[in-house]
Amino acid sequence: MAKRKPLIAGNWKMYKTGPQAAELTSRLKSLVPDIMDVDVMVAPPFTALEVVAGILKGSVIHLGGQDLFWEVEGAYTGEISAPMLEAAGCNYVIIGHSERRQYFGETNATVNRKIQAALPGGLIPVVCIGESEAERESNETFSVVQKQLEEGLEGITSDEIQKVTVAYEPVWAIGTGKTATTDQAQEVHQFIRGWMETAYGNSVANDVRILYGGSVKPENIGDLMTMADIDGALVGGASLDADSFAAIVRLSINAATD
Ligand code: 13P
Repeated sequence: MAKRKPLIAGNWKMYKTGPQAAELTSRLKSLVPDIMDVDVMVAPPFTALEVVAGILKGSVIHLGGQDLFWEVEGAYTGEISAPMLEAAGCNYVIIGHSERRQYFGETNATVNRKIQAALPGGLIPVVCIGESEAERESNETFSVVQKQLEEGLEGITSDEIQKVTVAYEPVWAIGTGKTATTDQAQEVHQFIRGWMETAYGNSVANDVRILYGGSVKPENIGDLMTMADIDGALVGGASLDADSFAAIVRLSINAATD
């Protein structure tokens, strides 16, 4: 079975003003090699999208939004739509990050609406799922992930699911320095792919890209990438440093082509 093309994505969260984002992007552009073996994406705050898009012109690095609202336009103060992200130069959008679920009331139902809004214009949704520490400790990891998949992807067709990337981010590993072991991550990735197979069939399941997120660094990306069902990473803290993020990209290429 051919492995899927990896994606290394940087989620900048609420870090970097426009000028700071411009500086980071310029450094990244010079450090990330022009290779086609791995897809690379960065998701700056909305206020930096256009400046980052301008700098990324002519580079292999893709641009993503960190969220979107499901309406195209309207009286929704503070929100951003899929066409706005596209016009700003995005072809990816992160949906359902655990921080949005935790602080902004996102649910599997809102995640579902956002995926449905992202797909028609060609944005690739990076759909985040994952269990909390308490859920893992009470052995609910698989049931939580299953519910997130069932409800989040409800009504998504097998044509549509091929455009979706899933990111497994155990909440207890985000920003904590605690990485899931490669076996812990692989076990859940395999479960997610198994769920995809039941829902969409073998060939679709084999093609769906599943990223790992949670304290990914240059020191652990190589081992993560050797696992059969890990197809890349959604990187938080380490994506804010150009050298670290570029190292993660380079090491993921080596691991993927070994
Ligand atoms: P850290 O890499 O900082 O743990 O963040 C992971 C994350 O939430 C990426 O979306």
